[in-house]
Amino acid sequence: MRLIRARIDSAALRANLRAVRARAPHSRVMAVVKANAYGHGLVPAALALADADAFAVARLEEAVTLRDHGLRRRMVLLEGVFDAAQLAQAAQLELDLVVHQWVQIALLEAFRAPRPLSLWLKVDTGMNRLGFRPEEFRAAWQRLRQLQPAPSELRVMTHLACADDPDDGASAEQLQRLQPLVAGLEAELSIANSAAILALPQAHAHWVRPGLALYGVSPFIAQRGGQLGLRAAMTLESTVIALRDIGIGDTTEQAKFTVERAESVRGEQQHVRCLCDVQQIVDSSSLRRLHPHLLPTAAPLRIGWPGAAQLRHGSLVRIGCGTYVFAVVD
Ligand SMILES: Cc1ncc(COP(=O)(O)O)c(C=O)c1O
Repeated sequence: MRLIRARIDSAALRANLRAVRARAPHSRVMAVVKANAYGHGLVPAALALADADAFAVARLEEAVTLRDHGLRRRMVLLEGVFDAAQLAQAAQLELDLVVHQWVQIALLEAFRAPRPLSLWLKVDTGMNRLGFRPEEFRAAWQRLRQLQPAPSELRVMTHLACADDPDDGASAEQLQRLQPLVAGLEAELSIANSAAILALPQAHAHWVRPGLALYGVSPFIAQRGGQLGLRAAMTLESTVIALRDIGIGDTTEQAKFTVERAESVRGEQQHVRCLCDVQQIVDSSSLRRLHPHLLPTAAPLRIGWPGAAQLRHGSLVRIGCGTYVFAVVD
């Protein structure tokens, strides 16, 4: 075997869903399977996560694929729709729509919906990505309430910018901005991504929206998924075809990581020296930037080489034409 193969562990996905439920026992779970389920395969991942209360996708095409594969669960289109044709298709597929800008409200007002739609009004409390500004929220809410037919459900969503840094006060500020907007509204609320599910119980609300955690990936720099009770859902497998012996002060061809410490690990005939700690590399996203197609998440790598057992965290191995990977050995 020369190619790198990604092995997806459905049992780990299911276990991570259970772990999320245990962390947020009073919330329903919207499993974020956008971006090809973070590289884990949209359909198989969604099938493994079929017990989730809803799925969240970014694009209409993803929702179409899931519906084509028989997934009838509530499905939330995180970006909403961008024209009348998409709106008609989304309504026909019975998707929940996120509404985050005025043009989407205008589309809804012009649309003769065959049945009431389920909508999520998104408010930007500080992420500055998608959503109405807090001062626009009430007006947007009123216009959605007045749609004909009226929405079957109208919920509120916001996204936290810095929940992965528990010391950052930004999440508390965002929650403070949200509070007066939803006070007195009889609306379900969704705030928490993985980091907030794990570290910010006050943000759990009615619905949580885990992505990373479902795939076993820690959102926190200082902790790995396993330390949070999560199981890696993806394992990369390949064979080692060559090992390099690199000294302190050297840099690697692609990664340009300077070797910080050398630790000799003897194999049968060859030896490899360990570089910097792999978790640092993965956490700094450099590895993902270098090999986005291979490493959509911080997936562990198993290598089929007799000396593999002697490799350590941070070993540099060559596993294909010009491909360096920092081995993570369980
Ligand atoms: C709106 C929204 N909610 C939830 C998530 C899931 O976030 P995470 O993968 O950090 O759990 C995402 C992912 O980017 C998102 O865009």
